Amino acid sequence: MPLRDVSWEEFSGLSLDGKARALNSKGRLFHVLYAQQFGRKELDDLGALATQIRFLAKSDDGARFLLGLLPHRRAMLYFTQPSTRTFLSFCAACEVLGMSLGEVRDTSTSSEFKGESQEDSVRTFSSYFDLIVMRSKIGGLAERMAWTLSNSERPVPIINAGSGRDQHPTQALLDIYTLQRSFERRGGIDGKRIVFVGDLARGRTVRSLSCLLANYRGVRMVFVAPDQLQIGRDILEQLEARGVSYELSADFAAAIPDADAIYMTRIQDEWDKEQGESARIDTSSYCFTEADLARLGKEAVLMHPMPRRNEMAAGVDRDPRAVYWRQMRNGMWIRSALIAVQFGIAEVIRNRASETGVKVP
Ligand code: NCD
Repeated sequence: MPLRDVSWEEFSGLSLDGKARALNSKGRLFHVLYAQQFGRKELDDLGALATQIRFLAKSDDGARFLLGLLPHRRAMLYFTQPSTRTFLSFCAACEVLGMSLGEVRDTSTSSEFKGESQEDSVRTFSSYFDLIVMRSKIGGLAERMAWTLSNSERPVPIINAGSGRDQHPTQALLDIYTLQRSFERRGGIDGKRIVFVGDLARGRTVRSLSCLLANYRGVRMVFVAPDQLQIGRDILEQLEARGVSYELSADFAAAIPDADAIYMTRIQDEWDKEQGESARIDTSSYCFTEADLARLGKEAVLMHPMPRRNEMAAGVDRDPRAVYWRQMRNGMWIRSALIAVQFGIAEVIRNRASETGVKVP
């Protein structure tokens, strides 16, 4: 059922799976709003495509080939919530494919300041641009905008780059790509034990990543947080429905030795309902320090969506198991791959990569 044929009431009442189906156009990814839109095949294909783009971009010839792919397309970055990595990696991802960019990062400089609705803003962007990447603190806004555009005369795709506390699907894609690369020689992501730590109640990256991980066989997820910041029941219900095994714990020290990957997160105090709410929770034992490295498995990896505070000590960065700087660079490649799929140029890239001898695992 295409998005154009459903009323907003009908669409917003659908299950996440129903919504995910409505967001594709002619069998291809169109709007990218939730992690639930990606199955195992899509994740494998996207990872392989990101690797092909990454290798092509290394040579002058390959980089020029990529630049020639979408010079006729423009992307609008509508980021009304703070961002460094997601914003910049989307800029870089678009530039790799030759797209040009526009941005609104502060509604005090746009007509929303004069009372224009977000619907009218987004329809305006769609008059000039071919893709809208948006981040907002308003949960569900990207979904509403996707419906609005699909029902307008210029239905350009929307990518959700973080909506409220709910989802951050492209962060989860880069996290999966990082895990794929980290476990390339260890049988892939299947069967691995992934430990999530910190503010799991309000961290949208964990919510999206746990859904993507449910696509892998035998993955075990461990959610480590103080009670008040433990992962939402809705996510656990989705995991249960898919037969995924998980554990809830408040003991980080005990979870370190058996982990294949540890995914640290920041306390998201910008969502506090009353001032100082997070500061009253004792989170001191949910930090990874240099002393913890000795108890971490030799082949385990340490991840973080960043930005970090004190939960991941800077002294850990030098350890080869700390992959969070590589993780953010992976964001550029996987976002290029995603945009390539949305614009139907994945096949051309795959052909060029195989002609040039780029090998993908
Ligand atoms: C995260 C976000 O904004 O949700 N960061 C990111 O996109 N890399 C996590 C955070 O802000 O803590």
